[in-house]
Amino acid sequence: MGILPWSFRKRSDFYADKHILITGGSSGIGKELARNVTEAGATVTLVARNKDRLRAAALELNPREPSASSSSRVYVYAADCSDPKAVDDMVAFVEEHYGPIDILVNCAGSAVGGYFESLDPCSFQDQMNSNYFTQVFPTHAIFKRMARRRAGHIVFTSSMAGQTPVFGQSAYVPTKYAVRGLAETVYHEAKPYNIDVTVVYPPDTDTPGLHQERSTMPPETLEISESGGLFSAEHVAKAIADGVRRKRFRVCIGFIGRLLGILTAGVTPGLSLLDVLVIPIARALTPFFVWDQNRIIRKGHAIRFPNTSTPQCPKPQQNAQSEPRSKPQLHEEPQQKQEPKQNMEPLQQKL
Ligand SMILES: NC(=O)c1ccc[n+]([C@@H]2O[C@H](COP(=O)([O-])OP(=O)(O)OC[C@H]3O[C@@H](n4cnc5c(N)ncnc54)[C@H](OP(=O)(O)O)[C@@H]3O)[C@@H](O)[C@H]2O)c1
Repeated sequence: MGILPWSFRKRSDFYADKHILITGGSSGIGKELARNVTEAGATVTLVARNKDRLRAAALELNPREPSASSSSRVYVYAADCSDPKAVDDMVAFVEEHYGPIDILVNCAGSAVGGYFESLDPCSFQDQMNSNYFTQVFPTHAIFKRMARRRAGHIVFTSSMAGQTPVFGQSAYVPTKYAVRGLAETVYHEAKPYNIDVTVVYPPDTDTPGLHQERSTMPPETLEISESGGLFSAEHVAKAIADGVRRKRFRVCIGFIGRLLGILTAGVTPGLSLLDVLVIPIARALTPFFVWDQNRIIRKGHAIRFPNTSTPQCPKPQQNAQSEPRSKPQLHEEPQQKQEPKQNMEPLQQKL
């Protein structure tokens, strides 16, 4: 060991004996990150809602008994990260049974696309629950514990869609801008407690989540998002693992991702002198991207509405049973529809 270069030794040792909690760890980017860090010796706790997928991920990541040379373990816990009580219970249970959490990776999320005027208004709230509050609550539950220990690292997962608007993603994009605002604020609040913060801006990544999202995307969105390229989950997970190890505040992936990272850094840390020099060039390129998006949007509009040059909205649905407008109507509070809560018993499974 004495002859190994310092940087190599540090790189290979960083994740050994670390306990990393990954929300959304049963699929896609979260699962690949779990694979990356367990191979480097970390213990992971995967959190998601579906117990079967959690169990399958744990078996896939850790099929053998841990060997004497590696203390890496995979634990799973089923919880809905948009439920603050469930998240508090989960963090308390995990720290008590599996040990203090050194790194929290907030990766749970989902995306719904669609033309703004066609989206159900509830999907804006659902997307906030799925992508923003799933990152607020685990961070809030773990922050106090890390602050007491004066150590820890919190990773937020935004998106390239948290840096630039994307046509057809009006329910998703604001949630990822919100994550960015949260990460940038928590960065300052965490500093006095020696807690590091990283915010990741993944590009389109080949995951089950993206396949699901694409089935809801308008054709214009599909064409626009193709221009950013498609990355493998392994590539993105490696970039996240490297960024955390180097304590980077911002992790941007690919050429366009890096350009966007430089352009949208605002008043945040992490820009090199070279990045600062690139800003005017990157800014000068933006009219091209805007022009290209507008070209795709105009083309899509012409296909949707072939005989008109003015924007059209879908006609409001006529309710056949509604009373005539002239008749005075009594206002009644709509009954709150209670969704039955799924039983989220902790899956106390050590594999
Ligand atoms: N793939 C991309 O192109 C891309 C690009 C930019 C950003 N991102 C972001 O990267 C993250 C991971 O995306 P992905 O593509 O890897 O997605 P994915 O394959 O669909 O995985 C999502 C994971 O999150 C879990 N999850 C979802 N809602 C949850 C909740 N309320 N509570 C707990 N767990 C929940 C899912 O498990 P359960 O359903 O069982 O709960 C699953 O484990 C997301 O935040 C996404 O917005 C992805």
